[in-house]
Amino acid sequence: MAGNTNLAYRRLCRRFGAELTTTEMVSSMALRFGDEKSLGLLERGAEEEPVAAQVFGSDPQTLAIAAHEVERRGFHLVDLNVGCPVPKITGCGGGSALLREPDLAARCIESMAAAVQIPVTVKVRAGWDDDNKNAPAFARQMEEAGAQAVTVHGRTRAQKYQGRADLDLIAGVKQAVSIPVVGNGDVVDLPSARAMMQTGVDGIAIGRGALGRPWLFAQLGALFDGCEMPPEPSVIERAALMLELGHGVAELYGEFRGLRIMRRLAADFFRGLTGAPKLRQACNHLESLKDLDQLAARLLAMAEEGA
Ligand SMILES: Cc1cc2nc3c(=O)[nH]c(=O)nc-3n(C[C@H](O)[C@H](O)[C@H](O)COP(=O)(O)O)c2cc1C
Repeated sequence: MAGNTNLAYRRLCRRFGAELTTTEMVSSMALRFGDEKSLGLLERGAEEEPVAAQVFGSDPQTLAIAAHEVERRGFHLVDLNVGCPVPKITGCGGGSALLREPDLAARCIESMAAAVQIPVTVKVRAGWDDDNKNAPAFARQMEEAGAQAVTVHGRTRAQKYQGRADLDLIAGVKQAVSIPVVGNGDVVDLPSARAMMQTGVDGIAIGRGALGRPWLFAQLGALFDGCEMPPEPSVIERAALMLELGHGVAELYGEFRGLRIMRRLAADFFRGLTGAPKLRQACNHLESLKDLDQLAARLLAMAEEGA
């Protein structure tokens, strides 16, 4: 997830049991021209196995070069983004715009698959809009082009992040292809995870539900294994995780840029807590690791007051 799934965040998710992690989406064009900032998104942890790098773009040759770079850096899968609804991306023909150009998308997959030994996978949305929910046929065409797995976010491009993910549509994709299908959209707890598994998918991709809640992977993993659900972490544990993430992000990007990234990531850790709005406001002013320490101390003090 752009702006979120940096290496430090993925490390936390992994520790809590996420079985496959994926980088933020990276521009294939930027990789082709060796852009330092984009290459920085391709940091990989030794413990991340398997880990996918996701690329976006719509030029088959550029995507092949990007896929090759991903492979060279030791990633285990390279994923093509056919889901991003943001005009900056779709305006250049990438992300969900490819849903309307299945033949071009297929050429992109073919070109990437020819350039690398690692599996090429694809992440799609339900379709462009309600009148064009073409994910099943699209996914079949991507399979024929060489995609080895497909992740389906059950919303259309027109929905962006509104409304609900269409689980029947995801089930339709599962029936249409023989490669593994990963269902995505609105999984935040056991009932929503069960509903997703009932579509017949082979796995679940979790986005927003795990932001600031990396322990969700451990909770769902335990429940699917028939074990008791680990409890929600205490406020002390949450503060420690937030600090660990902040230090990791600062190490990756330097303190200045890292703490700006943490303004958003830290706020996610306060969801559902008493006093969250005030703490979120404080996040907007994070500038240094010292500020983050103070924020964690405030969180603990508020918890003690409330206790
Ligand atoms: C801030 C943000 C950034 C995202 N970035 C990406 C991305 O880089 N690549 C991608 O495939 N999906 C991206 N997504 C979409 C999510 O991966 C996911 O498909 C969507 O949020 C629905 O799943 P969820 O309900 O579990 O969040 C992003 C979503 C959000 C909210």
